[in-house]
Amino acid sequence: MRDMHQIRLRVNGREHELTVEARRTLADMLRHDLGYTGTHLGCEHGICGACTVLLDGSPVRACLMFGVQADGTEVSTVEGLAAGEELSDLQQAFSDHHALQCGFCTPGFLMLAEAYLAERDSADGPTEAEVRELVASNLCRCTGYQGIVEAVLATARSRRRAGAP
Ligand code: FES
Ligand code: FES
Repeated sequence: MRDMHQIRLRVNGREHELTVEARRTLADMLRHDLGYTGTHLGCEHGICGACTVLLDGSPVRACLMFGVQADGTEVSTVEGLAAGEELSDLQQAFSDHHALQCGFCTPGFLMLAEAYLAERDSADGPTEAEVRELVASNLCRCTGYQGIVEAVLATARSRRRAGAP
């Protein structure tokens, strides 16, 4: 017998109510039940970070959580970053600094960096060493990471200039 649960959550500000099997991962629920296919699945066991989404503002590996654990939460996925056709500042920086090639890892890096930049005190900005440590939690097989580091630093700098958190 399937163990089904009814849950409610918000994804990128949009309310969802659905019935989900207890063993369904958050990543599969987002992708297959709710259509947020920007959340990618690589390793499916917590190593690569391609599935990173924000749960109540904190980055989580969506392959390591069950969908039912997101009941009552606010989830942010890569689909929520752009405003229509207009890329977010971080997405634009990834493009400007050649921080992606195949792009498979990119949603995870974007969500990881978004959470970090939102949390980090903007007054003195992150150092390159801090950003390198941050991005070490996710795997990219294409870029060599340099462009990703530059994109995150450039976004931090421009947000600092704009006085945004
Ligand atoms: S797919 Fe989740 S960490 Fe790799
Ligand atoms: S851009 Fe291809 S895995 Fe990162």
